[in-house]
Amino acid sequence: MGQDNRNVDGECIVTGASEGIGAAFARVAARRGRSLLLVARRGAMLDALAAEIRSSSGVPVRTLAADLGVAEGIDALVATALADGRRPSMLINNAGFGLYGDVTESDERRLVEMLRLNIEAVVVLSRRLAPAMIGVPGAAILNIASTAAFQACPGFGTYAATKAFVLAFTEALHIELEGKIRVTAVCPGYTESGFHAVAGLDLKTMKLPIMTAEEVAEQAWRASDAAACVHVSGMGNKVLVAASGVAPRALSRRIAGKIFRRNSFGR
Ligand SMILES: NC(=O)c1ccc[n+]([C@@H]2O[C@H](COP(=O)([O-])OP(=O)(O)OC[C@H]3O[C@@H](n4cnc5c(N)ncnc54)[C@H](OP(=O)(O)O)[C@@H]3O)[C@@H](O)[C@H]2O)c1
Repeated sequence: MGQDNRNVDGECIVTGASEGIGAAFARVAARRGRSLLLVARRGAMLDALAAEIRSSSGVPVRTLAADLGVAEGIDALVATALADGRRPSMLINNAGFGLYGDVTESDERRLVEMLRLNIEAVVVLSRRLAPAMIGVPGAAILNIASTAAFQACPGFGTYAATKAFVLAFTEALHIELEGKIRVTAVCPGYTESGFHAVAGLDLKTMKLPIMTAEEVAEQAWRASDAAACVHVSGMGNKVLVAASGVAPRALSRRIAGKIFRRNSFGR
């Protein structure tokens, strides 16, 4: 674990902070003076980001190399976050991955890993850390869902369903914790990051709105400040989500299937 011995009360926990949207959240939080606990499996990348943030923003940063797809990793994060009576102010449940392919053609082990990280880690971390956050000034939870949460996505179906879970779970948590912790579901669309290479998707040929990870994180932070329950990233994605909300579900799932089933790497 990367150490930083200065006061770390009220720190902002960012899961999946070694690259992409999580790293962008870390930089956005640091610019606002938040101390940080950064988590992902690749500890060297976390340590490099921590060094960059300490020198640019001067905030205390701790790092933890942990696999949040397994119970031991979640236990390690909770223990680190709450050590010595610490009380986090923010939890950004961002770690997640996608897996392209029809269900029957997908690797079962990877599918289950995805369910554990995208769903189980979000639920367990929210469940265990929220009680300690109540009463901390500015307490907030941001759960990263996706625009894929709003309709079935044939060819990307299990991933989209994990994000539909995150969206519904977060909306419920928003009400349960109202007045105690601001809880926001963040729904990015196509965002530049390592996500698409991991998932095996190539959407570059599609005319989808593309955002940078920095834009997604900055807008999401402002949505959390405004106590939004559901935040869709960017105007283009808001229009797409609104359109899928009024279209018949049978049409939405057909269109999503045409997008995702044509756009894998090497298919
Ligand atoms: N990019 C998009 O178009 C897009 C759109 C909608 C939603 N999202 C969501 O945004 C979130 C962030 O994704 P991203 O686009 O930033 O992708 P990314 O660049 O691939 O980053 C994913 C992060 O999650 C971490 N991670 C993966 N497996 C992990 C595990 N088992 N334990 C701990 N950390 C793990 C990775 O770090 P390590 O490999 O070092 O562990 C990495 O830091 C995800 O929840 C994703 O579903 C992305």
